[in-house]
Amino acid sequence: MTIEFRGVTKRYEDGALAVDELSLTVPDGSMTVFVGPSGCGKTTSLRMVNRMVEPTGGEVLLDGRNVRDADPAELRRGIGYVIQHAGLFPHRTVLGNIATVPMLSGWSRRSARRRAGELLDTVGLPAELGSRYPAQLSGGQQQRVGVARALAADPPVLLMDEPFSAVDPVVREGLQDELLDLQRRLGKTIVFVTHDIDEAVRLGDRVAVLRVGGRLAQYGTPADVLRHPVDDFVAEFVGKDRGYRGLSFLSAGDLEVDDVATAAIGSVPEDSDEWRLAIDAERRPRGWLAPGSTVDGRLAEVDLVAGGSLYRRGTSLRGALDAALSSPASLGVVVDDDGATVGVVTARHVLDVIERHPASVTATSGTANTTATSRTANPTATSRTPRA
Ligand SMILES: Nc1ncnc2c1ncn2[C@@H]1O[C@H](COP(=O)(O)OP(=O)(O)OP(=O)(O)O)[C@@H](O)[C@H]1O
Ligand SMILES: [Mg+2]
Repeated sequence: MTIEFRGVTKRYEDGALAVDELSLTVPDGSMTVFVGPSGCGKTTSLRMVNRMVEPTGGEVLLDGRNVRDADPAELRRGIGYVIQHAGLFPHRTVLGNIATVPMLSGWSRRSARRRAGELLDTVGLPAELGSRYPAQLSGGQQQRVGVARALAADPPVLLMDEPFSAVDPVVREGLQDELLDLQRRLGKTIVFVTHDIDEAVRLGDRVAVLRVGGRLAQYGTPADVLRHPVDDFVAEFVGKDRGYRGLSFLSAGDLEVDDVATAAIGSVPEDSDEWRLAIDAERRPRGWLAPGSTVDGRLAEVDLVAGGSLYRRGTSLRGALDAALSSPASLGVVVDDDGATVGVVTARHVLDVIERHPASVTATSGTANTTATSRTANPTATSRTPRA
């Protein structure tokens, strides 16, 4: 279902202009992320879609129909809504929470609970959590239940207001991966709100950057917004390392991969004054053997220096640069889809590729923020970064 904001304005009763002439279209089956500083009107914009807030000007259209002409209760049953801290009903079990909207829509209790059980699985939760109460779940599990509840009536549209802000960064990354995966499978039209530009570029097919006063500063693909910020506000907001973030969208097709000296775990390595990559019987990297280090007998894990992130061949350049910069040997380990070592890359090689595509990256800051958030068109790309 397509969502269209047409000159939408919201002025609250006290005169505050929360949203000013917002016009943009969220195409059917895609995810748009609203991002911007606190108070810029993200929540207000989102709530005008399901009429929790009524615009004072302009209109919101769903597949061309003004939401104002829909019955609010009916409208909301077709729109899943997920908020921070999940907003679960504390006195209902997990299954009871998820079954809420189907029950309101007149499903029998039995079919609503069966559907709820299926959805637990969809969001990656074990069936036995179904009988627990929200307080008996972790924050990440609660957010998953919140997503399951929003999906229960199979609405074509999902509105998500900072759903992952209250969970820690590692759990958040897992939830983001799952949302991307759900989106690929279910093809909902999603509006997602966050303050976090990394989350925005990772999740969004399109990103809408809003500024205080409720004005749309820029609307485009993540790559557009990172590479071609329209003004200083957007440039500042997406950050000085935007060139580095932009690497996520640059394919590493012609990246040069070098051979690397290796030492097998369990073997008796000779002394050497260069870094050697320790590998197991399947050629998977286990860590590094430092130059000049002596091994007492056979090479074991205790002899090794822990490695940096691994770079999966064929994925985005950002992962390659992360691997090179995080490696104790300054050599990023390249692995194939089975995790076996292919070779190594240096940061220099990555920069060479970037220099051959001068137009595609606006700046190349070396100050790597180490949370790899690669999103590429390549379906094999992994965003969880395994470690050597
Ligand atoms: N019910 C209300 N009455 C009056 N003003 C409001 C109301 N709700 C929001 N506002 C104001 O409208 C502006 C936009 O608020 P909104 O909640 O949409 O921002 P936001 O971008 O979601 O912020 P945050 O990131 O902090 O959640 C703010 O200045 C806010 O104070
Ligand atoms: Mg908000």
